[in-house]
Amino acid sequence: MTKSIKKLFSYAIAALMTCLLAVACTPTNNSTTTTPNSPTTIGNQNPISIGIAVAQTSNVALLGQEQVIGAKIAEAYFNKKGGINGTPIRLVFQDTAGDEQGAINAFNTLISQDKVVGIVGPTLSQQAFSADPIAERAGVPVIAPSNTAKGIPQIGKYIARVSAPVAVVAPNAIDAALKINPQIKKVAVFFAQNDAFSKSETGTFQETVKQKGLELATVQTFQTTDTDFQSQVTNAINIKPDLIIISGLSADGGNLVKQLRELGYKGLIIGGNGLNTSNLLPVCKALCDGIIIAQAYSPEMKNEINTNFRKLYTEQNKKEPPQFTAQAFTGVQVFVEALSTLDKTTKISTLALPQLRTQLNDTLLTGKYITPLGEISFTPEGEIVQKQFFVAQIKMEPDGNSGKFTFIQ
Ligand code: ALA
Repeated sequence: MTKSIKKLFSYAIAALMTCLLAVACTPTNNSTTTTPNSPTTIGNQNPISIGIAVAQTSNVALLGQEQVIGAKIAEAYFNKKGGINGTPIRLVFQDTAGDEQGAINAFNTLISQDKVVGIVGPTLSQQAFSADPIAERAGVPVIAPSNTAKGIPQIGKYIARVSAPVAVVAPNAIDAALKINPQIKKVAVFFAQNDAFSKSETGTFQETVKQKGLELATVQTFQTTDTDFQSQVTNAINIKPDLIIISGLSADGGNLVKQLRELGYKGLIIGGNGLNTSNLLPVCKALCDGIIIAQAYSPEMKNEINTNFRKLYTEQNKKEPPQFTAQAFTGVQVFVEALSTLDKTTKISTLALPQLRTQLNDTLLTGKYITPLGEISFTPEGEIVQKQFFVAQIKMEPDGNSGKFTFIQ
């Protein structure tokens, strides 16, 4: 064997050993959805695979599509900055669609087949309660990018979230409504009874209404799959509420707002976190005008990473970045920064995948991160500690074809 063939041979063996011993080799599976134009290498290192399990299809994609954008911006951004101390990251996308089974399948594929170091996902709390226990049993860290129901970090020690829970975000919307109309007395509440987050959020809204001394005049229920809300709307309008509060998802929530206005309701409407997307606007069009929605992100957040994130997003999308996109970016950021921290004490290329997953989880829970959401950290249980929250109101153009979220608080 000539010297150069020997050298080539030893490189090939070394590369194979790295893949076998270490972690997150680039999967060869063709069914894996990857970022179309992501950078694949920095130097000669194998990328570190991070799973993204969000709703790319179904009605829940109204939220999930915003998350895909945030994750992709993060992938390009952090790779451009050098990835994990020189090793690039590679996002592996598995579509969860909108139900529990879809999330379970996506988690199983990411964990066993794609061999990711951690997962950002799923979109819905309803899905998280089914899929997260799989990651917990497998010892794979999960960062929930948008699950806001009570009880998510408590699913297990590998489950954390960057999406502040309903209990700390939702009450801000009621304060904002009372500032706009201090005469509010009677409140009608609607919630989707087949959705874990909506049930959790309405609990917070209903408690807050009572704490503020307002009258909880009626509670109406629906399903996230419903399109006709006439009987519930009629029931609510009959009691003449001054404020209506909706906890549901985007398609159902948008249709409900539309029917409330069509049937003559003129008062203020608060939408919960499931309505927090401009993908709602084509559903209720001009009738979306005035919906108040609490926010865990403001594009105005003053720090370098948000300035960069906002610029990248607005260049691509010609509008301000929404909360779901900022949170998905932040989920990837937490993994990248925790991996970089860990790598400085223990070279991650020397760790077997189960060890890496566990040490990554331990590391990420103790870190502090300056993110587009501001400075965040986690409680030992994995609950986000975040400092600032905001409230926005939807302002539609009179033609009803375009509109935006205007920050009012
Ligand atoms: N915040 C919503 C949920 O937790 C999307 O399901």
